[in-house]
Amino acid sequence: MEVVKILSLVVDDEMAGRTAASAEEIMEDPSIDTVVEVMGGIHPAFEYIKSALEHKKNVVTANKAVVAACYDDILALAEQNGVSFRCTAAVGGSIPWLVNIERACRVNELTAVGGIMNGTTNFILHKMLTEKAEFDEVLKEAQDLGYAEKDPSADIDGDDIRRKLLISANTAFGISLPEDDVQTFGIRNARLKDCEWGADQGLTLKLAGFSEKKEDGSVSAYVAPVFLGKEDVLSAIPANYNLVRYTGTYCGIQSFIGEGAGRFPTAHNVVEDLIDILETPETFYTMKRTACPVSNESVLLPWYIRTAEESLIPESFKAEACRGVFVTARVSVKEMLDWAVKSLEKDNKLFIAAIG
Ligand SMILES: NC(=O)c1ccc[n+]([C@@H]2O[C@H](COP(=O)([O-])OP(=O)(O)OC[C@H]3O[C@@H](n4cnc5c(N)ncnc54)[C@H](OP(=O)(O)O)[C@@H]3O)[C@@H](O)[C@H]2O)c1
Repeated sequence: MEVVKILSLVVDDEMAGRTAASAEEIMEDPSIDTVVEVMGGIHPAFEYIKSALEHKKNVVTANKAVVAACYDDILALAEQNGVSFRCTAAVGGSIPWLVNIERACRVNELTAVGGIMNGTTNFILHKMLTEKAEFDEVLKEAQDLGYAEKDPSADIDGDDIRRKLLISANTAFGISLPEDDVQTFGIRNARLKDCEWGADQGLTLKLAGFSEKKEDGSVSAYVAPVFLGKEDVLSAIPANYNLVRYTGTYCGIQSFIGEGAGRFPTAHNVVEDLIDILETPETFYTMKRTACPVSNESVLLPWYIRTAEESLIPESFKAEACRGVFVTARVSVKEMLDWAVKSLEKDNKLFIAAIG
């Protein structure tokens, strides 16, 4: 394996003699058979990936945003041009997650994927609880440590998990979910009192993504804060670690814990993908992508609601006051997340979490 050319906005000594003046220079170079994209964002990353695939070059990326947004287009281009596309680092950083989904699908039908898929938010919630610290304080610490971006929105609003959940569900179930359908509620409004409410009842607050394929073929997919009891291993995941898991017809539940981000863990999976392409050229983890809407109506859960505007809560939720907050009867994920997102317009401090 040889790094022939590097397109970079900044050039350092290590890159000397190997810099490309433009993306075209890489695309037009017949000695290059594989392009690695790690610039992030959707544009021009998509245009570069598209061009590389059209020039019959394999592509490896760590960029979950572009894969989630352009899933069908990228896979179709790889298929049409007979080249490989791999993005193991895009979900779970260093964890061999997508590649094991690919392996498991050869033997099992997978019925569920999900877990703690974002190290930054897990770090924040874990620190809030263990050090009795407030959200803003811990977010700042995460930024100082380089775990959170200057603009932390993609992490704390759950967008990062939504993209990873979508790629995981698409790969595991051989489907293509519309990204906008994956309902998402983050932890921007989580406060220490929410963590403590749970702790008093033996529950730990986490932000997680869940997707399940039902027997009738419908697929649920959502990202939400959730209070978990000790019996669920997700509740014990510390600091900036991830735990991702799938359920298969024969293998049962398989869990993977590891560093979900960081320059070296992420680079590790980029290089693993390159070696996979050298050893066993294939297109993607799966080429199946049946269009599938998200169906969250049948996932029923009790919910925690903290709002200063009690009148916003619909009677159908059968919410009861419980130590300064409200706990509902079982309400569908679809109904609760639609309501919560809309209600933020009237109460911008509202916080909800599934219980259980
Ligand atoms: N870091 C992680 O822990 C991690 C984990 C999993 C996946 N990923 C994914 O990996 C990708 C890179 O993440 P990162 O953390 O390394 O981001 P980053 O630190 O922002 O690095 C991206 C680099 O790409 C450069 N770049 C941006 N646009 C460019 C363009 N048009 N042409 C040439 N270079 C360009 C940037 O230059 P400037 O700085 O000058 O803008 C920057 O040096 C993202 O898609 C991210 O989601 C990262």
